[in-house]
Amino acid sequence: MKVTIVGAGNVGATCADVISYRGIASEVVLLDIKEGFAEGKAMDIMQCATTTGFNTRVSGSTNDYSKTANSDVVVITSGIPRKPGMTREELIGINAGIVKAVAENVLQHSPNAIIVVVSNPMDTMTYLTLKATGIPKNRIIGMGGALDSSRFKYYLSKALDKPSNDVQGMVIGGHGDTTMIPLTRLASYNGSPVSDFLSQEQLEKVAADTMVGGATLTGLLGTSAWYAPGASVAYLVDSILNDQKKIIACSVYLEGEYGQSDICIGVPCIIGKNGIEKIVDIKLNDAEKVLFTKSADAVRSMNADLKSVLV
Ligand SMILES: NC(=O)c1ccc[n+]([C@@H]2O[C@H](COP(=O)([O-])OP(=O)(O)OC[C@H]3O[C@@H](n4cnc5c(N)ncnc54)[C@H](O)[C@@H]3O)[C@@H](O)[C@H]2O)c1
Repeated sequence: MKVTIVGAGNVGATCADVISYRGIASEVVLLDIKEGFAEGKAMDIMQCATTTGFNTRVSGSTNDYSKTANSDVVVITSGIPRKPGMTREELIGINAGIVKAVAENVLQHSPNAIIVVVSNPMDTMTYLTLKATGIPKNRIIGMGGALDSSRFKYYLSKALDKPSNDVQGMVIGGHGDTTMIPLTRLASYNGSPVSDFLSQEQLEKVAADTMVGGATLTGLLGTSAWYAPGASVAYLVDSILNDQKKIIACSVYLEGEYGQSDICIGVPCIIGKNGIEKIVDIKLNDAEKVLFTKSADAVRSMNADLKSVLV
């Protein structure tokens, strides 16, 4: 089982690292545009093989897509961060150009691959990948909900003062500070609703902390986070390659589900060997439905900035 990761930066290399030490795939190819960078990251990871005990083969390539041939899954993390003075439209224009070219290149060598989009703004880049490549919608998955949900469970576990692995919870909607929707009503601790243990005020704080989870880390680190993003991508790739059928919140193309069409946005999905096996229809209450519609409106307005790239 072969995975290609385009963009050997912080998130891409961390993802390769987690995939290899957990033995999720037999082969990982890291590809980057920066001369020698992916080769260096791959070599560094491979030099862990004997100490952490893995057998995955990790290699690097500077823009040679032939090395990515016959990948089962391709992860796209390539892009640039927003720079001072750059408008959102400019950032979307630049990253959209990169993501579109990368998707077309990888598909030339791996026409049947499942594509996992990570580059931001992720929901818009997922939509772009779907529209630009025309491949079936089950094979285009945006990763954001897995990360936001793990941050939600982290903040819940802190408020509960209990281990994260005993906590269940999901974040749906857009992958952005103001668009994500932590579903506190459905979150649970060892089978009981978290509202049995936490006050409304505590739950609101957990949701608010989750929504600014990425920005909090950017403030502390001076750049966006990579350990949890890289591990979240690996978790998703594991469910695909090993046909685990996990339910994971992913950005997927909706055609009427959750009252939305012609948009990629985070909803719970069963993830297996065919990519998106099924969109799970959880019953939202009226307040959650309003939030979801607002979130979709915001994502749709970003998608409008793709016009020049999609002509
Ligand atoms: N969806 C999520 O949950 C999530 C989480 C964290 C980061 N991100 C996004 O993921 C992306 C990567 O983040 P990062 O921290 O790894 O950034 P980074 O700058 O460390 O890595 C990006 C890499 O992409 C490479 N690159 C740029 N253009 C390329 C091209 N045309 N072909 C191949 N490689 C190219 C760069 O050389 C760089 O090494 C960003 O867009 C970031 O906003 C998304």
